[in-house]
Amino acid sequence: MSDGGSIDTNVVTLTRFVLEEGRKAKGTGELTTLINSLCTAVKAISSAVRKGGIAHLYGIAGSTNVTGDQVKKLDILSNDLIINMLKSSFTSCILVSEEDAKAIIIEPDKRGKYIVCFDPLDGSSNIDCLVSIGTIFAVYKKTTDGEPCERDALQPGRNLVAAGYALYGSATMVVLSTGQGVNCFMLDPAIGEFILVDRDVRMKKRGNIYSLNEGHAKDFDPAITEYLHRKKFPQDGSAPYAARYVGSMVADVHRTLMYGGVFLYPANSKSPEGKLRLLYEGNPMAYIMEQAGGMASTGTETILDIQPKHIHQKSPVVMGSTDDVKEFLAIHKKHFPKK
Ligand code: F6P
Repeated sequence: MSDGGSIDTNVVTLTRFVLEEGRKAKGTGELTTLINSLCTAVKAISSAVRKGGIAHLYGIAGSTNVTGDQVKKLDILSNDLIINMLKSSFTSCILVSEEDAKAIIIEPDKRGKYIVCFDPLDGSSNIDCLVSIGTIFAVYKKTTDGEPCERDALQPGRNLVAAGYALYGSATMVVLSTGQGVNCFMLDPAIGEFILVDRDVRMKKRGNIYSLNEGHAKDFDPAITEYLHRKKFPQDGSAPYAARYVGSMVADVHRTLMYGGVFLYPANSKSPEGKLRLLYEGNPMAYIMEQAGGMASTGTETILDIQPKHIHQKSPVVMGSTDDVKEFLAIHKKHFPKK
């Protein structure tokens, strides 16, 4: 609804959206507070990313800038921002970050019921050349009684309460699911709010883009090699797929969500588990894909069904449009039949 000329006076902000969802679900408001505090961190990270070069925020951690100030690398700054915002929101008891070897157990007087796993600034090889990067997050409830511990974070993605990502691309966007579909919110820098721009995103059943680091082709298993060959030399008269690979998972997954197709980070003979981390890369992105009508698999197992064994565990990833993922899975099954 728009009045007062071109200014929309009744926009749906992310805060309003999550509040309304929480009200419908008769929640306590704790998840709304958690997501709001994450969004505050995302705004601060976005601002730091946008002025990274000017403020000399990239470079070696702990180095000093021209004014003699201690400089924090963008990824360390992002990690600190998320940890501090979550701690001070009284909503979480355990945090698992890509940047920290061990889970962070929040001090008793600041605890809430949620567990948050996150990659504060994903796509690190792209930071210094100004290519899109992102933040990924996954939210679980603590399911056991007693003192929180690292083991509490080892839950399959099926248990997720909410997950999403922030993409620092040509604009900053938060893509979020709390289990009722996927919604996209664009940061309006003029008012510092995330505005709902894409409601209930549904993925195409089939796309025409494949996305992976083909530089590892020498070490690919035969299923990947055959799949890629089919995409480049289709036998059914259809057009070949386009290849797109940013090398930032958030950007590659977001394009897959928007345009369809398939994103892969498969296992290869050098990295039998692939590269991507289950708790804060594979699971949250698989959740977004499924919530938007897509699929996510390791090749043999649905990603969200994996029971994690340790917090930084890796997992091969094939995700995207259902018909594309199914086509890959059929080829995989042919090469690796279950015994
Ligand atoms: O895990 C970090 C990450 O930067 C992801 O965002 C991205 O998908 C992947 O690594 C890129 O890896 P590579 O450089 O091996 O293609």
